[in-house]
Amino acid sequence: MDNLRSNGEDIIGVMDDRWSEEEWRGVPLLGGLDQFDRVVRQHPNSLYIIAIGQNAARKKITTLFEEKNVRFGKAIHSSAVISADAHIGEGTVIMANSVVNADATIGRHVIINTAATVDHDCSIKDYVHLSPGVHLAGGVEIGFSTHVGIAACLIPQVKIGRNAVIGGGACVIRNIPDCVLAVGCPAKVIKQFQESKE
Ligand SMILES: CC(C)(COP(=O)(O)OP(=O)(O)OC[C@H]1O[C@@H](n2cnc3c(N)ncnc32)[C@H](O)[C@@H]1OP(=O)(O)O)[C@@H](O)C(=O)NCCC(=O)NCCS
Repeated sequence: MDNLRSNGEDIIGVMDDRWSEEEWRGVPLLGGLDQFDRVVRQHPNSLYIIAIGQNAARKKITTLFEEKNVRFGKAIHSSAVISADAHIGEGTVIMANSVVNADATIGRHVIINTAATVDHDCSIKDYVHLSPGVHLAGGVEIGFSTHVGIAACLIPQVKIGRNAVIGGGACVIRNIPDCVLAVGCPAKVIKQFQESKE
């Protein structure tokens, strides 16, 4: 909501399963997922943002909305610096003081959290989450639904697989495969996930 308000955008409401009040932080609460059909019927032309940090949960809820053919917006804070030559996918959230440089490609429903930087020619696939203060040098590739932990740094051209987790503070200097947890400096794989977290 801060991102949208920083650009003076109208917010028609917030949906959340946890709350039954009528209003939250000055905007109407439209109900939880049980109200989903009604909300989409009443607001067919609105743009939606799935504001969930955990990648698999964000994908699950996004899929429900996609089935109703809703359109997704982008929530980019006014203080973020985005190159005119970067491509940003629908549903993506870019928080305050982040930077996305030239020819970077950011997928759909990505989160670029506070003060993260994505340098030139990076490729960030759908449902990735870059935590606050992450720095990606030029030409880095991050696979589908991977989570990069707070303040991690990745040197130029490294490739991270899909559904991976990079620990907070890691320095990644070699490619990291799919479905693993890598931590430390230099980052090493310490865990393999048995199955995809998609
Ligand atoms: C990487 C992370 C997800 C691992 O969590 P986890 O699976 O619960 O792992 P554990 O805490 O059980 O740690 C497993 C081992 O990895 C080590 N480890 C965990 N995170 C580490 C990190 N970031 N750097 C270095 N070592 C780390 C632990 O010391 C432990 O080692 P040990 O077995 O020798 O004691 C978590 O530690 C982390 O870095 N989270 C950052 C999340 C984040 O940035 N969130 C921001 C959202 S906006």
